[in-house]
Amino acid sequence: MEVVYTGKTKDVYRQEDGNFLLKFKDDATGTNGVFDPGSNTVGLTIEGAGRAGLRLTKFFFEVLQEHNIPTHYIDADIEKATMTVKPAVLFGDGLEVICRLRAVGSFLRRYGAYAQEGQPLDYFVEVTLKDDAREDPPITEDALDMLGILSKAEYQILKDLTRRITQVVEAELAKKGIELYDIKFEFGRVGPEQQIVLIDEISGGNMRAFKDGRHIQPLELEELMLA
Ligand SMILES: Nc1ncnc2c1ncn2[C@@H]1O[C@H](COP(=O)(O)OP(=O)(O)O)[C@@H](O)[C@H]1O
Ligand SMILES: [Mg+2]
Repeated sequence: MEVVYTGKTKDVYRQEDGNFLLKFKDDATGTNGVFDPGSNTVGLTIEGAGRAGLRLTKFFFEVLQEHNIPTHYIDADIEKATMTVKPAVLFGDGLEVICRLRAVGSFLRRYGAYAQEGQPLDYFVEVTLKDDAREDPPITEDALDMLGILSKAEYQILKDLTRRITQVVEAELAKKGIELYDIKFEFGRVGPEQQIVLIDEISGGNMRAFKDGRHIQPLELEELMLA
């Protein structure tokens, strides 16, 4: 199989039938052994993390399927730590779409003069460019349109999908007494219609979650959710 991309936490292959195969690795983003979903470096390697991330990803993509939310998901093989997906065309070199329910992380670092830590946010959506060298700069709807990355109509679709998906994840976490603070997604265009769909993964590495006021690490989140 042809290697399409070697990422921080996954490798991407093209299958003979044209679909992509995502291989989940045991690497997580962060620095010096401390997990940080917003980080652009691999900070730690945890035995079994890839498979655990895939199990949770499979779970959420199948729940989204039940909600008729369009995604790239085809199927997953937990043993092999691989997921088969429809190939997507990224927006520019890729975007990250963040949905915030509480003020933490980079939101608080940027707006701390006006925001209290942990303050509720109303499914606040923001978009950043995937650009490691420029530390994933935030980008506005106007700039996305002006730079030819995403039209204003597409931005609305992206934002609506982001909120719907966040609410689905929030509800699933709530069933286990876990509160979602923020979450990060990727989207792409799929098929001849260039339909905007959710791509990549939804695992503990994409979100901040708390239980009884305590931050839940990705591996623990996967254990709690799939127990
Ligand atoms: N369906 C898809 N089609 C094309 N690219 C995808 C698809 N799903 C995920 N990707 C891309 O595959 C890569 C997955 O590897 P990952 O290690 O997460 O990369 P990164 O280091 O960029 O976060 C990401 O760059 C993501 O944009
Ligand atoms: Mg990634």
